[in-house]
Amino acid sequence: MIDPLSELAIRHGTDKFGLHDYTPRYHQLFAPLRDRPIRLLEIGVGGYQDADRGGQSLAMWRDYFPQGQITGIDIQTKALALGPRVAVLRGSQIDADFLAEVVATRGPFDIIIDDGSHRNEHVVESYGLLFPTMAAGGLYVAEDVQTAFFPRFGGSLDLEAPNSVGYFAEIAARLGQDADPLVADVACVTRFHNMIALHKVARIPDATRTVVADITPAALAEAFAALAEGESLRIAGRPEGALAADIRARFIAVDHREIAVHFPRATLHGQARDLCRIDLMADGVVLTRGANDYPSNFAFDATQPQAAAALAQMEAVLRETGEEGGFVHYAGILTAQYGREAARDWIDRLTAMEARARLYFQLAIGLAQRDKDGAQVQALARRALSIYPADAGFTLSLATALLAADGGAEARALVEAALASTPRDMNLLLLLSRIASQAGEADSAILHARRAVEVSAAQRRAKPLTRLGELLAKQGAHDEALRLLREAAALPGQFAPRSLRALSAVLKTQGDIPAAVAAAEKAVALAPDTREFQNWLNALRG
Ligand SMILES: C[S@@+](CC[C@H](N)C(=O)[O-])C[C@H]1O[C@@H](n2cnc3c(N)ncnc32)[C@H](O)[C@@H]1O
Repeated sequence: MIDPLSELAIRHGTDKFGLHDYTPRYHQLFAPLRDRPIRLLEIGVGGYQDADRGGQSLAMWRDYFPQGQITGIDIQTKALALGPRVAVLRGSQIDADFLAEVVATRGPFDIIIDDGSHRNEHVVESYGLLFPTMAAGGLYVAEDVQTAFFPRFGGSLDLEAPNSVGYFAEIAARLGQDADPLVADVACVTRFHNMIALHKVARIPDATRTVVADITPAALAEAFAALAEGESLRIAGRPEGALAADIRARFIAVDHREIAVHFPRATLHGQARDLCRIDLMADGVVLTRGANDYPSNFAFDATQPQAAAALAQMEAVLRETGEEGGFVHYAGILTAQYGREAARDWIDRLTAMEARARLYFQLAIGLAQRDKDGAQVQALARRALSIYPADAGFTLSLATALLAADGGAEARALVEAALASTPRDMNLLLLLSRIASQAGEADSAILHARRAVEVSAAQRRAKPLTRLGELLAKQGAHDEALRLLREAAALPGQFAPRSLRALSAVLKTQGDIPAAVAAAEKAVALAPDTREFQNWLNALRG
Protein backbone atom coordinates (compact mmCIF):
# COMPACT_ATOMS: atom_id res chain seq x y z
CA MET A 1 0.00 0.00 0.00
CA ILE A 2 1.25 3.47 -0.80
CA ASP A 3 2.13 5.84 2.04
CA PRO A 4 0.05 9.04 2.38
CA LEU A 5 2.92 11.41 1.57
CA SER A 6 3.79 9.62 -1.67
CA GLU A 7 0.13 9.68 -2.65
CA LEU A 8 0.05 13.46 -2.16
CA ALA A 9 3.32 13.80 -4.11
CA ILE A 10 1.73 11.96 -7.03
CA ARG A 11 -1.47 14.00 -6.93
CA HIS A 12 0.34 17.33 -6.85
CA GLY A 13 3.10 16.29 -9.26
CA THR A 14 6.34 16.90 -7.36
CA ASP A 15 9.31 14.86 -8.50
CA LYS A 16 9.99 13.82 -4.90
CA PHE A 17 8.20 10.61 -5.92
CA GLY A 18 8.74 8.87 -9.26
CA LEU A 19 11.92 10.46 -10.57
CA HIS A 20 13.18 10.35 -6.98
CA ASP A 21 12.39 7.98 -4.12
CA TYR A 22 12.21 10.64 -1.40
CA THR A 23 8.64 10.70 -0.09
CA PRO A 24 8.63 7.17 1.41
CA ARG A 25 11.76 8.23 3.33
CA TYR A 26 10.23 11.54 4.37
CA HIS A 27 7.18 9.68 5.60
CA GLN A 28 9.43 7.52 7.81
CA LEU A 29 10.92 10.70 9.29
CA PHE A 30 7.85 12.92 9.52
CA ALA A 31 4.93 10.58 10.33
CA PRO A 32 5.19 11.21 14.11
CA LEU A 33 4.93 14.99 13.51
CA ARG A 34 2.04 14.83 11.11
CA ASP A 35 -0.77 16.11 13.32
CA ARG A 36 1.25 18.78 15.10
CA PRO A 37 1.22 22.50 14.28
CA ILE A 38 4.73 22.29 12.86
CA ARG A 39 6.53 25.06 10.98
CA LEU A 40 8.20 23.83 7.84
CA LEU A 41 10.62 25.69 5.59
CA GLU A 42 11.54 24.41 2.15
CA ILE A 43 14.41 25.99 0.20
CA GLY A 44 13.51 25.80 -3.50
CA VAL A 45 9.89 26.26 -4.60
CA GLY A 46 10.47 24.90 -8.13
CA GLY A 47 9.77 26.21 -11.60
CA TYR A 48 13.01 28.20 -11.76
CA GLN A 49 12.60 31.43 -13.79
CA ASP A 50 8.87 30.98 -14.47
CA ALA A 51 6.88 32.81 -11.78
CA ASP A 52 3.80 30.69 -12.48
CA ARG A 53 5.54 27.32 -12.12
CA GLY A 54 6.54 25.39 -9.00
CA GLY A 55 4.95 24.95 -5.58
CA GLN A 56 4.08 21.27 -6.01
CA SER A 57 6.02 20.14 -2.95
CA LEU A 58 4.65 23.05 -0.87
CA ALA A 59 1.10 21.92 -1.74
CA MET A 60 2.09 18.38 -0.73
CA TRP A 61 3.48 19.51 2.65
CA ARG A 62 0.40 21.69 3.23
CA ASP A 63 -1.90 18.69 2.78
CA TYR A 64 0.33 16.24 4.67
CA PHE A 65 0.56 18.51 7.75
CA PRO A 66 -3.03 19.73 8.20
CA GLN A 67 -2.00 21.93 11.17
CA GLY A 68 1.31 22.97 9.64
CA GLN A 69 2.52 26.41 8.62
CA ILE A 70 4.49 26.06 5.41
CA THR A 71 7.11 28.47 4.03
CA GLY A 72 8.89 28.22 0.71
CA ILE A 73 11.82 30.37 -0.39
CA ASP A 74 13.21 30.72 -3.89
CA ILE A 75 15.76 32.96 -5.54
CA GLN A 76 13.23 33.62 -8.31
CA THR A 77 9.97 35.55 -8.03
CA LYS A 78 6.98 33.27 -7.58
CA ALA A 79 3.31 34.10 -8.04
CA LEU A 80 1.50 31.05 -6.68
CA ALA A 81 -1.78 30.78 -4.80
CA LEU A 82 -1.32 27.97 -2.29
CA GLY A 83 -3.75 29.01 0.44
CA PRO A 84 -3.46 30.80 3.79
CA ARG A 85 -1.12 28.27 5.44
CA VAL A 86 1.58 28.64 2.79
CA ALA A 87 3.88 31.63 2.27
CA VAL A 88 6.38 31.96 -0.55
CA LEU A 89 9.23 34.44 -0.08
CA ARG A 90 11.90 35.55 -2.49
CA GLY A 91 15.56 35.34 -1.53
CA SER A 92 18.69 33.25 -1.66
CA GLN A 93 19.52 30.30 0.53
CA ILE A 94 22.90 31.85 1.32
CA ASP A 95 21.69 35.39 2.10
CA ALA A 96 22.17 35.54 5.89
CA ASP A 97 20.03 38.69 6.39
CA PHE A 98 17.17 37.30 4.33
CA LEU A 99 17.25 33.96 6.17
CA ALA A 100 17.31 35.72 9.56
CA GLU A 101 14.20 37.64 8.50
CA VAL A 102 12.49 34.43 7.35
CA VAL A 103 13.27 32.76 10.68
CA ALA A 104 12.11 35.83 12.65
CA THR A 105 8.79 36.09 10.82
CA ARG A 106 7.93 32.45 10.03
CA GLY A 107 10.13 30.35 12.38
CA PRO A 108 11.56 28.84 14.41
CA PHE A 109 11.22 25.85 12.12
CA ASP A 110 10.62 22.27 13.16
CA ILE A 111 11.49 20.98 9.70
CA ILE A 112 13.81 22.49 7.08
CA ILE A 113 14.31 20.91 3.65
CA ASP A 114 17.05 22.10 1.32
CA ASP A 115 15.88 21.50 -2.25
CA GLY A 116 17.44 24.67 -3.65
CA SER A 117 20.49 25.18 -5.86
CA HIS A 118 22.12 21.88 -4.79
CA ARG A 119 25.50 23.54 -5.12
CA ASN A 120 27.75 22.01 -2.49
CA GLU A 121 28.93 25.29 -1.02
CA HIS A 122 25.30 26.48 -0.74
CA VAL A 123 24.15 23.27 0.97
CA VAL A 124 26.88 23.61 3.58
CA GLU A 125 26.34 27.34 4.07
CA SER A 126 22.55 27.13 4.42
CA TYR A 127 22.91 24.41 7.03
CA GLY A 128 25.33 26.60 8.98
CA LEU A 129 22.97 29.56 8.86
CA LEU A 130 19.72 27.72 9.59
CA PHE A 131 20.35 24.67 11.76
CA PRO A 132 21.21 26.66 14.91
CA THR A 133 17.93 28.60 14.60
CA MET A 134 15.74 25.49 14.55
CA ALA A 135 13.20 24.56 17.20
CA ALA A 136 14.06 21.93 19.82
CA GLY A 137 13.63 18.52 18.20
CA GLY A 138 14.03 20.01 14.72
CA LEU A 139 14.85 18.00 11.62
CA TYR A 140 17.03 19.42 8.84
CA VAL A 141 17.10 17.54 5.52
CA ALA A 142 19.50 18.15 2.63
CA GLU A 143 18.00 16.66 -0.51
CA ASP A 144 19.77 15.69 -3.76
CA VAL A 145 23.14 15.41 -2.04
CA GLN A 146 24.32 13.28 -4.97
CA THR A 147 25.59 16.62 -6.32
CA ALA A 148 28.44 16.01 -3.85
CA PHE A 149 29.82 13.76 -6.61
CA PHE A 150 28.87 15.87 -9.64
CA PRO A 151 31.58 18.23 -10.94
CA ARG A 152 28.94 20.56 -12.44
CA PHE A 153 27.64 21.34 -8.93
CA GLY A 154 31.10 21.70 -7.39
CA GLY A 155 31.24 18.05 -6.28
CA SER A 156 33.93 15.38 -6.61
CA LEU A 157 34.48 11.73 -5.74
CA ASP A 158 37.20 12.55 -3.22
CA LEU A 159 34.72 14.85 -1.41
CA GLU A 160 37.00 17.89 -1.46
CA ALA A 161 35.60 20.77 0.59
CA PRO A 162 33.10 22.28 0.34
CA ASN A 163 31.22 19.06 -0.21
CA SER A 164 27.84 18.21 1.29
CA VAL A 165 28.33 14.44 1.78
CA GLY A 166 31.90 14.96 3.04
CA TYR A 167 30.75 17.73 5.38
CA PHE A 168 27.86 15.77 6.91
CA ALA A 169 30.00 12.61 7.19
CA GLU A 170 32.44 14.70 9.21
CA ILE A 171 29.65 15.96 11.48
CA ALA A 172 28.49 12.35 11.98
CA ALA A 173 32.02 11.27 12.88
CA ARG A 174 32.34 14.01 15.51
CA LEU A 175 28.98 13.53 17.26
CA GLY A 176 29.37 13.77 21.03
CA GLN A 177 32.97 14.98 20.73
CA ASP A 178 32.69 18.52 19.40
CA ALA A 179 31.28 21.59 21.15
CA ASP A 180 30.46 23.35 17.84
CA PRO A 181 26.65 23.86 17.90
CA LEU A 182 26.52 22.57 14.31
CA VAL A 183 27.68 19.24 15.76
CA ALA A 184 26.78 19.40 19.45
CA ASP A 185 23.07 20.00 18.78
CA VAL A 186 22.86 17.02 16.41
CA ALA A 187 21.51 13.90 18.09
CA CYS A 188 21.52 11.78 14.95
CA VAL A 189 22.49 11.93 11.27
CA THR A 190 20.33 9.79 8.97
CA ARG A 191 21.51 8.82 5.52
CA PHE A 192 19.26 7.65 2.66
CA HIS A 193 19.88 7.50 -1.09
CA ASN A 194 20.52 11.15 -2.09
CA MET A 195 19.41 12.50 1.28
CA ILE A 196 20.91 13.39 4.65
CA ALA A 197 18.78 14.32 7.68
CA LEU A 198 20.15 15.92 10.84
CA HIS A 199 17.97 15.51 13.95
CA LYS A 200 18.05 17.51 17.13
CA VAL A 201 16.32 14.50 18.76
CA ALA A 202 17.13 10.97 17.57
CA ARG A 203 14.24 9.03 16.06
CA ILE A 204 15.71 5.76 14.90
CA PRO A 205 14.37 2.41 13.72
CA ASP A 206 14.11 -0.43 16.26
CA ALA A 207 17.03 -2.80 15.87
CA THR A 208 16.47 -6.52 15.51
CA ARG A 209 20.08 -7.30 16.41
CA THR A 210 22.87 -5.56 18.26
CA VAL A 211 26.59 -6.00 17.84
CA VAL A 212 29.39 -4.24 19.72
CA ALA A 213 31.65 -1.59 18.21
CA ASP A 214 34.81 -3.70 18.34
CA ILE A 215 33.38 -5.95 15.62
CA THR A 216 35.53 -6.16 12.47
CA PRO A 217 34.20 -4.83 9.15
CA ALA A 218 34.09 -8.41 7.83
CA ALA A 219 32.04 -9.63 10.81
CA LEU A 220 29.76 -6.59 10.43
CA ALA A 221 29.24 -7.43 6.75
CA GLU A 222 28.29 -10.98 7.75
CA ALA A 223 25.86 -9.81 10.45
CA PHE A 224 24.32 -7.32 8.02
CA ALA A 225 23.93 -9.93 5.30
CA ALA A 226 21.99 -12.12 7.74
CA LEU A 227 19.29 -9.44 8.21
CA ALA A 228 15.96 -9.81 6.48
CA GLU A 229 14.61 -6.98 4.29
CA GLY A 230 13.47 -4.12 6.55
CA GLU A 231 15.43 -5.31 9.60
CA SER A 232 17.98 -3.13 11.36
CA LEU A 233 21.27 -3.85 13.06
CA ARG A 234 22.60 -1.69 15.89
CA ILE A 235 26.31 -1.20 16.48
CA ALA A 236 26.49 -0.31 20.18
CA GLY A 237 29.31 2.09 20.91
CA ARG A 238 31.41 4.38 18.82
CA PRO A 239 33.10 2.81 15.77
CA GLU A 240 36.84 3.51 15.64
CA GLY A 241 39.65 2.68 13.22
CA ALA A 242 38.77 0.20 10.48
CA LEU A 243 35.12 0.03 11.52
CA ALA A 244 34.79 3.85 11.39
CA ALA A 245 36.33 3.77 7.90
CA ASP A 246 33.88 1.04 6.88
CA ILE A 247 30.91 3.13 8.13
CA ARG A 248 32.18 6.17 6.24
CA ALA A 249 32.52 4.08 3.07
CA ARG A 250 28.92 2.92 3.54
CA PHE A 251 27.79 6.52 4.13
CA ILE A 252 29.26 7.50 0.77
CA ALA A 253 28.23 4.39 -1.16
CA VAL A 254 24.52 4.79 -0.34
CA ASP A 255 24.58 7.03 -3.44
CA HIS A 256 26.24 4.33 -5.59
CA ARG A 257 23.69 4.75 -8.41
CA GLU A 258 24.48 8.45 -8.60
CA ILE A 259 28.24 8.01 -8.36
CA ALA A 260 28.10 5.54 -11.27
CA VAL A 261 26.69 8.30 -13.53
CA HIS A 262 29.98 10.19 -13.36
CA PHE A 263 32.44 7.59 -12.11
CA PRO A 264 31.33 4.25 -13.59
CA ARG A 265 34.54 2.52 -12.51
CA ALA A 266 34.57 3.75 -8.89
CA THR A 267 35.02 0.96 -6.33
CA LEU A 268 32.36 1.30 -3.65
CA HIS A 269 31.24 -0.58 -0.57
CA GLY A 270 29.97 -4.01 -1.58
CA GLN A 271 26.75 -3.89 0.49
CA ALA A 272 25.54 -0.52 -0.82
CA ARG A 273 22.72 -2.04 -2.86
CA ASP A 274 21.07 -3.51 0.24
CA LEU A 275 21.70 -0.65 2.64
CA CYS A 276 18.70 1.70 2.53
CA ARG A 277 19.26 3.69 5.73
CA ILE A 278 22.08 4.51 8.15
CA ASP A 279 21.50 6.33 11.45
CA LEU A 280 24.62 7.64 13.15
CA MET A 281 24.67 8.81 16.77
CA ALA A 282 27.36 9.61 19.34
CA ASP A 283 26.97 6.19 20.94
CA GLY A 284 26.25 3.94 17.99
CA VAL A 285 25.10 3.32 14.47
CA VAL A 286 21.97 1.62 13.09
CA LEU A 287 22.10 0.02 9.63
CA THR A 288 18.81 -0.88 7.95
CA ARG A 289 18.63 -3.49 5.23
CA GLY A 290 16.44 -2.80 2.19
CA ALA A 291 16.65 -2.33 -1.56
CA ASN A 292 18.83 0.66 -2.38
CA ASP A 293 19.10 0.56 -6.14
CA TYR A 294 16.75 3.33 -7.25
CA PRO A 295 18.03 4.84 -10.50
CA SER A 296 19.57 8.27 -10.64
CA ASN A 297 17.24 10.93 -12.04
CA PHE A 298 20.22 11.90 -14.22
CA ALA A 299 20.00 8.44 -15.86
CA PHE A 300 16.46 7.42 -15.02
CA ASP A 301 15.62 3.83 -15.92
CA ALA A 302 11.89 3.14 -15.85
CA THR A 303 12.53 -0.61 -16.17
CA GLN A 304 14.46 -0.85 -12.88
CA PRO A 305 12.07 -2.81 -10.61
CA GLN A 306 11.68 -0.15 -7.87
CA ALA A 307 11.23 2.62 -10.46
CA ALA A 308 8.76 0.51 -12.45
CA ALA A 309 6.79 -0.13 -9.25
CA ALA A 310 6.78 3.61 -8.49
CA LEU A 311 5.46 4.46 -11.97
CA ALA A 312 2.75 1.79 -11.58
CA GLN A 313 1.77 3.42 -8.28
CA MET A 314 1.58 6.81 -9.99
CA GLU A 315 -0.69 5.37 -12.65
CA ALA A 316 -2.93 3.70 -10.04
CA VAL A 317 -3.27 6.85 -7.90
CA LEU A 318 -3.94 9.12 -10.86
CA ARG A 319 -6.57 6.78 -12.30
CA GLU A 320 -8.51 7.35 -9.06
CA THR A 321 -7.81 10.96 -8.26
CA GLY A 322 -5.44 13.76 -9.05
CA GLU A 323 -4.93 17.30 -10.07
CA GLU A 324 -3.60 18.98 -13.15
CA GLY A 325 -0.08 19.12 -11.69
CA GLY A 326 -0.06 15.37 -11.06
CA PHE A 327 -1.37 14.44 -14.52
CA VAL A 328 1.08 16.77 -16.25
CA HIS A 329 4.03 15.51 -14.27
CA TYR A 330 3.16 11.88 -15.02
CA ALA A 331 2.55 12.63 -18.72
CA GLY A 332 5.99 14.28 -18.79
CA ILE A 333 7.67 11.18 -17.33
CA LEU A 334 5.84 8.87 -19.79
CA THR A 335 6.86 11.09 -22.71
CA ALA A 336 10.50 11.19 -21.63
CA GLN A 337 10.66 7.45 -20.97
CA TYR A 338 8.45 5.90 -23.64
CA GLY A 339 7.82 8.60 -26.25
CA ARG A 340 4.92 10.92 -27.00
CA GLU A 341 2.35 8.25 -27.85
CA ALA A 342 2.61 6.73 -24.35
CA ALA A 343 1.26 9.93 -22.81
CA ARG A 344 -1.70 10.34 -25.18
CA ASP A 345 -4.47 9.29 -22.75
CA TRP A 346 -3.21 11.65 -20.08
CA ILE A 347 -2.82 14.52 -22.50
CA ASP A 348 -6.37 13.94 -23.75
CA ARG A 349 -7.56 13.98 -20.17
CA LEU A 350 -5.73 17.26 -19.55
CA THR A 351 -7.18 18.73 -22.73
CA ALA A 352 -10.67 17.75 -21.58
CA MET A 353 -10.13 19.52 -18.26
CA GLU A 354 -8.81 22.64 -20.05
CA ALA A 355 -5.38 22.39 -18.44
CA ARG A 356 -3.26 25.53 -18.30
CA ALA A 357 0.20 24.34 -17.26
CA ARG A 358 3.12 25.24 -19.52
CA LEU A 359 4.28 21.63 -19.57
CA TYR A 360 0.81 20.49 -20.65
CA PHE A 361 0.97 22.76 -23.72
CA GLN A 362 4.52 21.66 -24.51
CA LEU A 363 3.52 17.99 -24.35
CA ALA A 364 0.25 18.45 -26.22
CA ILE A 365 1.91 20.49 -28.99
CA GLY A 366 4.67 17.87 -29.30
CA LEU A 367 2.06 15.16 -29.71
CA ALA A 368 0.09 17.18 -32.30
CA GLN A 369 3.34 17.78 -34.22
CA ARG A 370 4.01 14.05 -34.14
CA ASP A 371 0.48 13.50 -35.49
CA LYS A 372 1.27 16.07 -38.23
CA ASP A 373 -1.92 17.83 -37.16
CA GLY A 374 -1.01 21.43 -37.99
CA ALA A 375 -4.45 22.79 -37.15
CA GLN A 376 -4.24 21.30 -33.66
CA VAL A 377 -0.72 22.70 -33.19
CA GLN A 378 -2.03 26.13 -34.13
CA ALA A 379 -5.03 25.88 -31.79
CA LEU A 380 -2.91 24.70 -28.84
CA ALA A 381 -0.14 27.23 -29.43
CA ARG A 382 -2.64 30.09 -29.74
CA ARG A 383 -4.24 29.12 -26.43
CA ALA A 384 -0.82 28.70 -24.80
CA LEU A 385 0.23 32.17 -25.99
CA SER A 386 -2.98 33.69 -24.61
CA ILE A 387 -1.82 32.45 -21.18
CA TYR A 388 1.97 32.80 -21.64
CA PRO A 389 2.33 35.65 -24.17
CA ALA A 390 6.11 35.95 -23.82
CA ASP A 391 6.90 32.26 -24.36
CA ALA A 392 9.34 31.93 -27.30
CA GLY A 393 8.71 28.17 -27.59
CA PHE A 394 4.97 28.58 -28.19
CA THR A 395 5.64 31.40 -30.67
CA LEU A 396 7.98 29.07 -32.56
CA SER A 397 5.40 26.27 -32.63
CA LEU A 398 2.63 28.54 -33.88
CA ALA A 399 4.79 30.31 -36.48
CA THR A 400 6.19 26.99 -37.77
CA ALA A 401 2.68 25.56 -38.14
CA LEU A 402 1.50 28.74 -39.88
CA LEU A 403 4.43 28.67 -42.27
CA ALA A 404 3.61 25.09 -43.24
CA ALA A 405 0.01 26.19 -43.95
CA ASP A 406 0.90 29.14 -46.20
CA GLY A 407 0.50 31.57 -43.32
CA GLY A 408 3.93 33.10 -43.88
CA ALA A 409 2.81 36.67 -43.29
CA GLU A 410 1.28 35.97 -39.89
CA ALA A 411 4.28 33.77 -38.99
CA ARG A 412 6.66 36.60 -39.87
CA ALA A 413 4.70 39.14 -37.80
CA LEU A 414 4.68 36.79 -34.81
CA VAL A 415 8.39 36.01 -34.97
CA GLU A 416 9.38 39.64 -35.48
CA ALA A 417 7.25 40.69 -32.51
CA ALA A 418 8.82 37.98 -30.34
CA LEU A 419 12.32 38.96 -31.46
CA ALA A 420 11.65 42.53 -30.43
CA SER A 421 11.61 41.34 -26.81
CA THR A 422 14.14 38.47 -27.10
CA PRO A 423 16.48 39.54 -29.93
CA ARG A 424 19.07 36.85 -29.08
CA ASP A 425 16.78 33.83 -29.42
CA MET A 426 18.60 31.54 -31.85
CA ASN A 427 15.56 29.47 -32.83
CA LEU A 428 13.43 32.54 -33.56
CA LEU A 429 16.23 33.93 -35.76
CA LEU A 430 16.50 30.63 -37.62
CA LEU A 431 12.77 30.57 -38.21
CA LEU A 432 12.83 34.15 -39.49
CA SER A 433 15.61 33.07 -41.84
CA ARG A 434 13.41 30.22 -43.10
CA ILE A 435 10.44 32.55 -43.56
CA ALA A 436 12.60 34.96 -45.59
CA SER A 437 14.03 32.10 -47.65
CA GLN A 438 10.56 30.77 -48.38
CA ALA A 439 9.53 34.27 -49.53
CA GLY A 440 12.50 34.33 -51.94
CA GLU A 441 14.45 36.91 -49.88
CA ALA A 442 17.84 35.21 -50.03
CA ASP A 443 19.94 38.07 -48.63
CA SER A 444 17.65 38.56 -45.70
CA ALA A 445 17.61 34.80 -45.02
CA ILE A 446 21.43 34.79 -44.91
CA LEU A 447 21.49 37.85 -42.66
CA HIS A 448 19.22 36.24 -40.05
CA ALA A 449 21.14 32.96 -40.21
CA ARG A 450 24.41 34.85 -39.62
CA ARG A 451 22.83 36.52 -36.61
CA ALA A 452 21.66 33.10 -35.34
CA VAL A 453 25.28 31.86 -35.50
CA GLU A 454 26.45 34.96 -33.62
CA VAL A 455 24.01 34.54 -30.73
CA SER A 456 24.29 30.75 -30.45
CA ALA A 457 25.97 29.11 -27.49
CA ALA A 458 29.00 27.02 -28.54
CA GLN A 459 27.27 23.67 -27.85
CA ARG A 460 24.26 24.64 -30.02
CA ARG A 461 26.15 26.21 -32.90
CA ALA A 462 26.00 23.26 -35.33
CA LYS A 463 22.40 24.00 -36.32
CA PRO A 464 22.77 27.69 -37.32
CA LEU A 465 26.14 26.99 -38.97
CA THR A 466 24.52 24.30 -41.09
CA ARG A 467 21.58 26.50 -41.97
CA LEU A 468 23.90 29.35 -43.00
CA GLY A 469 26.10 26.95 -44.99
CA GLU A 470 23.08 25.63 -46.90
CA LEU A 471 21.86 29.15 -47.73
CA LEU A 472 25.31 30.27 -48.89
CA ALA A 473 25.69 27.17 -51.06
CA LYS A 474 22.35 27.97 -52.70
CA GLN A 475 23.72 31.42 -53.55
CA GLY A 476 26.88 29.88 -55.05
CA ALA A 477 29.20 30.92 -52.20
CA HIS A 478 30.65 27.40 -52.08
CA ASP A 479 33.95 28.08 -50.36
CA GLU A 480 32.41 29.76 -47.33
CA ALA A 481 29.60 27.18 -47.31
CA LEU A 482 32.10 24.31 -47.23
CA ARG A 483 34.12 25.93 -44.44
CA LEU A 484 31.02 26.46 -42.27
CA LEU A 485 29.61 22.99 -42.94
CA ARG A 486 32.94 21.34 -42.11
CA GLU A 487 33.03 23.34 -38.88
CA ALA A 488 29.46 22.27 -38.06
CA ALA A 489 30.10 18.60 -38.91
CA ALA A 490 33.10 18.54 -36.57
CA LEU A 491 31.06 19.72 -33.57
CA PRO A 492 29.91 17.00 -31.19
CA GLY A 493 26.20 16.48 -30.67
CA GLN A 494 23.01 15.24 -32.23
CA PHE A 495 23.10 17.65 -35.13
CA ALA A 496 26.34 16.30 -36.67
CA PRO A 497 24.59 13.88 -39.10
CA ARG A 498 22.49 16.73 -40.55
CA SER A 499 25.61 18.87 -40.97
CA LEU A 500 27.38 15.98 -42.71
CA ARG A 501 24.41 15.46 -45.00
CA ALA A 502 24.46 19.15 -45.98
CA LEU A 503 28.24 19.04 -46.45
CA SER A 504 27.90 16.00 -48.67
CA ALA A 505 25.36 17.82 -50.89
CA VAL A 506 27.69 20.81 -51.42
CA LEU A 507 30.65 18.52 -52.13
CA LYS A 508 28.55 16.79 -54.78
CA THR A 509 27.70 20.07 -56.50
CA GLN A 510 31.45 20.78 -56.47
CA GLY A 511 31.97 17.47 -58.28
CA ASP A 512 33.96 15.89 -55.43
CA ILE A 513 32.02 12.62 -55.33
CA PRO A 514 34.48 10.59 -53.16
CA ALA A 515 34.39 13.31 -50.47
CA ALA A 516 30.60 13.56 -50.80
CA VAL A 517 30.31 9.78 -50.30
CA ALA A 518 32.67 9.87 -47.31
CA ALA A 519 30.59 12.59 -45.61
CA ALA A 520 27.34 10.73 -46.35
CA GLU A 521 28.82 7.51 -44.95
CA LYS A 522 29.67 9.32 -41.72
CA ALA A 523 26.12 10.69 -41.51
CA VAL A 524 24.68 7.18 -41.95
CA ALA A 525 27.07 5.76 -39.35
CA LEU A 526 25.98 8.40 -36.82
CA ALA A 527 22.25 8.09 -37.60
CA PRO A 528 21.68 4.62 -39.06
CA ASP A 529 17.89 4.86 -38.58
CA THR A 530 17.42 7.98 -40.70
CA ARG A 531 16.27 6.64 -44.05
CA GLU A 532 16.87 9.93 -45.85
CA PHE A 533 20.63 9.73 -45.18
CA GLN A 534 20.79 6.14 -46.45
CA ASN A 535 18.80 7.10 -49.58
CA TRP A 536 21.17 9.99 -50.23
CA LEU A 537 24.20 7.71 -49.86
CA ASN A 538 22.66 5.12 -52.20
CA ALA A 539 21.95 7.82 -54.79
CA LEU A 540 25.55 9.07 -54.57
CA ARG A 541 26.93 5.57 -54.99
CA GLY A 542 24.51 4.74 -57.78
C1 LIG B 1 14.46 21.46 -7.74
S1 LIG B 1 13.63 22.97 -7.68
C2 LIG B 1 12.62 22.80 -6.28
C3 LIG B 1 11.49 21.81 -6.47
C4 LIG B 1 10.46 21.78 -5.37
N1 LIG B 1 11.02 21.81 -4.05
C5 LIG B 1 9.60 20.52 -5.52
O1 LIG B 1 10.00 19.47 -4.99
O2 LIG B 1 8.56 20.59 -6.17
C6 LIG B 1 14.91 24.04 -7.19
C7 LIG B 1 14.52 25.51 -7.01
O3 LIG B 1 15.58 26.13 -6.27
C8 LIG B 1 15.68 27.47 -6.68
N2 LIG B 1 17.01 28.01 -6.32
C9 LIG B 1 18.17 27.92 -7.04
N3 LIG B 1 19.15 28.56 -6.39
C10 LIG B 1 18.62 29.05 -5.24
C11 LIG B 1 19.14 29.82 -4.15
N4 LIG B 1 20.42 30.22 -4.13
N5 LIG B 1 18.31 30.15 -3.16
C12 LIG B 1 17.00 29.78 -3.18
N6 LIG B 1 16.45 29.06 -4.19
C13 LIG B 1 17.25 28.69 -5.20
C14 LIG B 1 15.41 27.41 -8.18
O4 LIG B 1 14.95 28.67 -8.66
C15 LIG B 1 14.36 26.30 -8.28
O5 LIG B 1 13.05 26.84 -8.40
